Amino acid sequence: MAERVEIFEVGPRDGLQNEPQPIATKDKIALVDCLSGAGFRRIECASFVSPKWVPQMADSAAVLAGIARVPGVSYAALTPNLRGLEAALAAGADEVAIFGSASEGFSKANINANIAESLERFQPVADMAREAGLPVRGYVSCVVECPYDGAVAPAAVARVVAALRDMGCYEVSLGDTIGRGVPAAVDAMLEAVLQEIPVACLAGHFHDTGGRALENVDVALARGLRVFDAAVGGLGGCPYAPGAAGNVATEALHDHLISRGYETGLDRSVLVRAAEMARGMRGHG
Ligand code: HMG
Ligand code: MG
Repeated sequence: MAERVEIFEVGPRDGLQNEPQPIATKDKIALVDCLSGAGFRRIECASFVSPKWVPQMADSAAVLAGIARVPGVSYAALTPNLRGLEAALAAGADEVAIFGSASEGFSKANINANIAESLERFQPVADMAREAGLPVRGYVSCVVECPYDGAVAPAAVARVVAALRDMGCYEVSLGDTIGRGVPAAVDAMLEAVLQEIPVACLAGHFHDTGGRALENVDVALARGLRVFDAAVGGLGGCPYAPGAAGNVATEALHDHLISRGYETGLDRSVLVRAAEMARGMRGHG
């Protein structure tokens, strides 16, 4: 039997957050409902951040309230601070994520805190989520390159990963936020990170700006990672990462994994439908 690689769908959050024109809440709900028929175990569909910083995510509570929840699917939300966590709890998110950066420049631009401040801010979020029984995922952005600081040292990534591990994150997702990572750099970063955390607690999160996301997935597969974040239709980008293009497209990653002899448990025809929907929401359908 083929080995399973899990795709963690982030399209409704990472894919849409950067869209400048408002997208109707009902369209976001329809996208999540389409995706939950594809076989994902986890779908990130909300972000309880400042609506001044990321207006597109301002209706996250309404999205979580409107979706038809499929048993067994975890509907995930980003929570940068306690206020975000309280909102996520009230909205019924099944799991939350704290999101830090390995580079100071991006940390400041994205969450208005340096790395040390951000980790201090995350600790009570992780504690309170755990008390509420919610799994906490961690993200580390700019694991190879930062749009502000340039190349990022593998040791800097490993330090933030270790801090998130110590806060009790069940998984840490490693973000090539601006998609400039090349396989050799990704491999060196993974080597450092794996000194700190078991491979089963890691996920790869590759944006595809440089067109090398799938090569980077291969490097991570060779290192033993078996979870990858992706967005249907390859939408996305981070508002605070100039030049960042979309996440690796879920349907492309799915096909790539199948061609490598893995299975994903996903229904490709549903992925194609969701990708069309997602692209349509952006006006490129
Ligand atoms: P701040 O300005 O330092 O914080 O922002 P503040 O506490 O002074 O709050 C500013 C305003 O936001 C206040 O409103 C707060 O009430 C409000 P005002 O008084 O001005 O009217 N506020 C909130 N509103 C709703 N929900 C909240 C919340 N917190 C404060 N939770 C903060 C700090 C973290 C809030 C801000 O910087 C922020 O929201 N940043 C989010 C940036 C973001 O969402 N980026 C994209 C996601 S990360 C990503 O895409 C990378 C990833 O995909 C991995 C990868 O690719 O690398 C995960
Ligand atoms: Mg991202």
